[in-house]
Amino acid sequence: MIDPFGRRISYLRVSVTDRCDLRCVYCMAEDMTFLPKAEILSLEELDRLCGAFIGLGVDRIRLTGGEPLVRKNVLSLVRSLGSRVGTDLRELTLTTNGTQLSKMAGDLHAAGVRRINVSLDTLDPAAFAAVTRWGKLEQVLDGVFAAKAAGLAIRINAVALKGVNEHEYDRMLAWCGEHGFDLCLIETMPLGDVSGDRTDQYLPLSTVRARLRERWTLEESEYKTGGPARYYTVRETGRRVGFITPMTHNFCESCNRVRLTCTGTLYMCLGQEDAADLRGVLRDPAVSDEGLREAIQDAIARKPKGHDFVIDRRQARPAVARHMSVTGG
Ligand code: 5AD
Ligand code: SF4
Repeated sequence: MIDPFGRRISYLRVSVTDRCDLRCVYCMAEDMTFLPKAEILSLEELDRLCGAFIGLGVDRIRLTGGEPLVRKNVLSLVRSLGSRVGTDLRELTLTTNGTQLSKMAGDLHAAGVRRINVSLDTLDPAAFAAVTRWGKLEQVLDGVFAAKAAGLAIRINAVALKGVNEHEYDRMLAWCGEHGFDLCLIETMPLGDVSGDRTDQYLPLSTVRARLRERWTLEESEYKTGGPARYYTVRETGRRVGFITPMTHNFCESCNRVRLTCTGTLYMCLGQEDAADLRGVLRDPAVSDEGLREAIQDAIARKPKGHDFVIDRRQARPAVARHMSVTGG
């Protein structure tokens, strides 16, 4: 599948639930209302949709949320997709907040997952509790080490938050190096109402990278995971540090992905409203697998060039009303 701007679409992110057991301040309001269960696709329907994308050349799938591991029986979907890894799927990955990993890491590995991203913004228990509102750092750390023990490669994702974790990146880089994890820093994006001024939290990663270079030797790396992160190898630790800079660097040019929500809506861009309802198509008994593939191709033909996020203090409203937990990162 090639979009109107010549980008090959080979990567599908699937938000399997908009629910989460945490309430990160930059992601959600504390009193979030979630989608009614009736609107959510069954895991079998999600599996069939993923199959249609694979049939069209998608070879990487990432399950996200919300928190994907709080969806009941999610492992059945992981197993089904995992069984295709090595045949028509190159890779099945997961982005998780880590709270369920202690009990699920072994099953994920057995199902064919080899690499996960764990969202962890701080190693300070009090700061962690403040950012996630409901989270306990220890539970996530236990999960991370269970995942390591299960043989999963781990990238720690940290959203760069001014005044919250900005003095921790040295420590986090060292900690990741010590345990064999990659680290990826992410700029906050204005997605969804979160109650509170997000521009107060915004920290450009160009500044962060310059600060890191005072202490670490960052060597530009060719490493690519199919995502938007730009990687450097940290000479002192041998591990990688990545930067995702949607705000200060246009990461849209090389965009290879689309996002499917748990209600079967396909978003062609994280930062635009353009969407296609695949649930209606999926549930229409008159529509064959071929018809489903055509609906997907029609949607890809409408993929926008990019987002227009701006950092603007006077702009009280988010650039896009839907939350990250709906679109899946
Ligand atoms: N801006 C940037 N990153 C965000 N995430 C959630 N909300 C936002 C936001 N508004 C991050 C999570 C997770 C990844 C899927 O996206 O922390 O690491
Ligand atoms: Fe949950 Fe992730 Fe959003 Fe935090 S950022 S509330 S862990 S979905």
